[in-house]
Amino acid sequence: MSLKRAARLYIVGFIFIVLNFYPSKNLFSADVGNCLLCHKYPGLSRIDEQGKMKLLYVNEDIFNISVHLKVKCEGCHTDIKKIPHDPVNKVDCLVECHIVEPSSEQKFSHKDVDNYVKKSVHAALDKYGMPKKFKEDLPTCKNCHDEPLYRPLSFFKQVRPGISEAALGRCRVCHKKEDFIIRFYNHVTTRLHRTRNPINIAEVCARCHDDPLLVERHNLGTRAVFSYGETFHGKAARFLDERVPDCLDCHVNTGESVHQMLSHKDSAAITYRENKYLACSNIECHPGTSQQFASYKVHAEFNLDQSPVQYYFTLFFIILTGGTLLPLMAIIFLDLIRRLFPDAVIPRRR
Ligand code: HEC
Ligand code: HEC
Ligand code: HEC
Ligand code: HEC
Ligand code: HEC
Ligand code: HEC
Repeated sequence: MSLKRAARLYIVGFIFIVLNFYPSKNLFSADVGNCLLCHKYPGLSRIDEQGKMKLLYVNEDIFNISVHLKVKCEGCHTDIKKIPHDPVNKVDCLVECHIVEPSSEQKFSHKDVDNYVKKSVHAALDKYGMPKKFKEDLPTCKNCHDEPLYRPLSFFKQVRPGISEAALGRCRVCHKKEDFIIRFYNHVTTRLHRTRNPINIAEVCARCHDDPLLVERHNLGTRAVFSYGETFHGKAARFLDERVPDCLDCHVNTGESVHQMLSHKDSAAITYRENKYLACSNIECHPGTSQQFASYKVHAEFNLDQSPVQYYFTLFFIILTGGTLLPLMAIIFLDLIRRLFPDAVIPRRR
C-alpha cells in the first residue's frame, strides 16, 4: 500500500470515529460549506508528498476571533468545490471575497496592499520593471503574515487608556446585540494602534534580515534585527517597553501603509540621509531633533571592526562589573559561613 493511500485510510477511519463519538457543536455562521464538520477535529492530518505530517485542523475558537471571521472558507480556498477534495491549490491573498466594503460598495480584496508592496523595496521587480536578482528572497504576503499571533484586547488595558474592554460598556447603552458591539469595537480599536509589539514585529523581519547569507546576497550591510537589539531601542523593546520605535516606526514614511518600506538610498525614504531626522523628531520620540542628532547609528553592531571605541568601552564595563561584584560576593559568602559555623575549623592533614 502506498504512503498516500495509507494516510487517506487513516484519516477516513479517524473521521468516522470522531464523528460518532463527539457531540457536534454549533457551527458558526461563515461556515456555510460546513467545512468545520471535518476540519474542527484536532488530529485531522495527512502525510504529504515529502513524507511530512500536515495538520489540517482549524481551531474554531481562534478562527472566530480572527480578522477573517466573516470570510467564508471557500472565499479563500476558492478551488474547493467538492468533498472529498481534489488536490488543493495555495490560497491567493489577493482574491476578491464576497464581503463588500461599505463606503465604496465595491467587492473587497487586498489588491491595494499589494500595490504598496510593489512600490516598496520588497517588490519582486526593480524600478525598471525587471525581475530582481534572488527574487525568491523577497517576502510575499504569507511570509510576513503567517505567524499565529492573536492578542486579546485586554492586553492593552494599561498601556493605552480608553482602549479597553471596559469601554465596551459605553456602546451597550445604545446598541443591544453583543456580537455587533464586539465586532465593530474591535474593528476600529485594533487599528488605532499596532497589534504587535516591537519584538513581535522584529521577529517577522528577523527570518530574512538576520540571515547572514541573505544580507550578503542583497548587500544589506547589517543584520538589521541583531543590530537593532544591540542598540538602545532594541534593548528597551526586549524589556517589553512599547514606547520605543520598532522597525516600522522608522522605515515607513509618516501616514503611509506599513508596507511602504523603502531603501535608505532612495531619496523618498524617511531613512534617507537628509530625511531621517524627521523620523526621530516624531512628537512621541525626540521632538525638535537636529540633523546632527539623527546621525546616531541606529544599526550599530558593537564589534571590533565597526565600532572599536564602543567595543572596548563595553568590554571595560563588563570587566569592571564582574571584577567588583565577584570578589565582593566571595567575601560575603565566606563571612556568612563564618557566622553560621563560628567554631568550624578546616581539618588539617596529618
Ligand atoms: C468530509 C470531511 C471534510 C469536509 C466537509 C471538508 N474537508 Fe477539507 N479535508 C478533508 C480531508 C480528509 C483532507 C485531507 C485530504 C487528502 O489528503 O486528500 C482535507 C484537506 C483540506 C485542505 C488541505 C489540502 C492539502 O493537503 O493541501 C484544505 C485547504 C481543505 N481541506 C479545506 C476545506 C474547505 C475550505 C472545506 C469546506 C468547503 C472543507 N475542507 C471541507 C476533509 C473534509
Ligand atoms: C482569509 C483566507 C482564509 C480563510 C477565510 C480560510 N483559510 Fe484556510 N488557509 C488559508 C491560507 C493562506 C492557508 C495556508 C496554506 C496556503 O497558502 O494555501 C490555509 C490553510 C488551510 C488548511 C491547511 C492546508 C495546508 O496546506 O496546510 C486547511 C485545512 C484550511 N486552511 C481550512 C480552512 C477552513 C476549514 C476554513 C473555514 C473555517 C478556512 N480554511 C478559512 C487562508 C484562509
Ligand atoms: C515585509 C513584510 C510584509 C509583507 C510582505 C506584507 N505585509 Fe502586511 N503587514 C506587515 C506588518 C508588519 C503589518 C502591521 C502589523 C501590526 O500593525 O501589528 C502589516 C499589516 C497588514 C494589514 C493590516 C492593515 C495595515 O496596513 O496595517 C493588512 C490587511 C495586510 N498587512 C495585508 C497584506 C497583504 C495582502 C500582503 C501581500 C500583498 C502583505 N500584507 C504583505 C508586514 C508585511
Ligand atoms: C448614544 C447612542 C450610541 C452609542 C453610545 C453608540 N452608538 Fe453606534 N450608533 C448609534 C446610532 C443611533 C447609529 C445609527 C446612526 C447613523 O447611522 O448615523 C449608530 C451606528 C453605528 C454603526 C454603523 C452601523 C451601520 O450599519 O451603519 C456602528 C458600526 C456603531 N454604531 C458602532 C458603535 C460602537 C462600537 C459603539 C461603542 C464604542 C457605539 N456605536 C456607541 C448610537 C450609538
Ligand atoms: C530608530 C529608527 C530605526 C529602527 C527602530 C530600525 N531602523 Fe533600520 N534603519 C534606520 C535608518 C535611519 C537606516 C539607514 C542607515 C543608517 O542611517 O544607519 C536603516 C537601515 C536599515 C537597513 C539597511 C542597512 C544597510 O546598511 O543597508 C535595513 C535592512 C533595516 N534598516 C532594517 C530594519 C529592521 C528589520 C528593523 C527592526 C528590527 C529596523 N531596521 C529598525 C532606522 C531604523
Ligand atoms: C522574506 C524575506 C524578508 C522579510 C520577511 C523582510 N524582508 Fe526586508 N528585505 C528583504 C530583501 C531580500 C531585501 C533587499 C531588496 C533589494 O535589495 O531590492 C529587503 C530590504 C529591506 C529594506 C531596505 C534596506 C535598505 O537598503 O535600506 C528595508 C528597510 C527592509 N527590508 C525592512 C524590512 C522590515 C521592517 C521587515 C519586517 C516587517 C522586513 N524587511 C521583512 C527580505 C525580507
